[in-house]
Amino acid sequence: DPTPAPAPVPSTSPAESDLVRAARGLPVSRTPVWFMRQAGRSLPEYRSLRAGTVMLDACQDPDMVTEITLQPVRRHGVDAAILFSDIVLPLVVAGMDVEIKPGIGPVIDKPVRSVADVDALPALEPEALGFLETAVRQLVAELGATPLIGFAGAPFTLATYLIEGGPSKEHARTKAFMYAEPEAWSRLLDKLAVSAAIFLRAQVDAGAVAVQLFDSWAGVLSAADYAERVLPHSRAVFDGLGERDVPRIHFGVGTGELLPLIGDAGADVVGVDWRIPLDEAARRVGPNRSLQGNLDPAVLLADRATVDREVRRVVEQGRTARGHIFNLGHGVLPDTDPGALTHVAELVHELTTR
Ligand code: CP3
Repeated sequence: DPTPAPAPVPSTSPAESDLVRAARGLPVSRTPVWFMRQAGRSLPEYRSLRAGTVMLDACQDPDMVTEITLQPVRRHGVDAAILFSDIVLPLVVAGMDVEIKPGIGPVIDKPVRSVADVDALPALEPEALGFLETAVRQLVAELGATPLIGFAGAPFTLATYLIEGGPSKEHARTKAFMYAEPEAWSRLLDKLAVSAAIFLRAQVDAGAVAVQLFDSWAGVLSAADYAERVLPHSRAVFDGLGERDVPRIHFGVGTGELLPLIGDAGADVVGVDWRIPLDEAARRVGPNRSLQGNLDPAVLLADRATVDREVRRVVEQGRTARGHIFNLGHGVLPDTDPGALTHVAELVHELTTR
């Protein structure tokens, strides 16, 4: 066999990319931009590749994960890739009967409703994540200088799906369980923190250079309940990274009142939705953390002049933060014109190039 050609040496390493530098509050060449849910239904190339494959099967196929993760990077010129996967994948790999129903989200047949249910949940074995390691290694090789963000679902947000049995608005059963069964609650969130940490470590050890912990639904909690009953478990996920020196992004929706606490859980970067302007968010999280966000994803459905005005506003307000990673305030809506996303990435670069 001929010796394989050496891999091209990228001009910059992903670990020194603008994304990682902004996350650490270091100077950048321009504001890095990526979009939550940048891979997915807004892209025709995604819809055709995914046709006929169940979401959770696609997430466990390294070649499909690699291709879907790369699609938005090629198309939009964003400054980071985020692994194509899902927050419930560690639960599925552990053997829980979670499904993702198209247009609905994660559903589970037998929801967790008792102490016995919590104790019966199977644990995630790191050895079961070989497909993930393969996908991340392949991706990192293809991405060159572009950083790969690994991610996991935070214990609270995962608990909402397990307890409700599917998506919900109020998360009333989840909160009722939290209040009525504080010990079982704590055991459940401990278990979820352990599996989230295993999932993150697998991604970082295979080459992801930043991580995002999604606590999408934490905004339904009061600050006091969040601080006492949720934050310690989210912190345990970050602590599970040990000495791995990758920036930690921590995001939830409707978390205006929780922003300082979301930072305290161990974040280098606090993700902000569109409800609070970034200058106010910067005051709330303090000078030691960077911000990510926060263009309203619905703005992308409006006319170009509106998009431009809102992008400029977010960029200006982001200048008050220690560091700013431009993003949406939540995921890309499926009806979004992909051209609008490409335009936003270009405009952010144009407005911020030093
Ligand atoms: O591009 C990326 O952002 C990476 C991939 C990614 C997905 N899910 C792919 C996906 C990420 C980071 C997630 C995280 C995720 N999954 C979260 C946290 C982020 C957030 O939006 O707050 C949550 C709450 C979930 C649970 C989940 N999975 C939901 C609510 C849905 C949508 C259901 C639907 O069909 O509307 C999913 C399915 C899902 N995850 C899709 C994708 C691309 C759609 C599946 C499809 O294309 O058929």
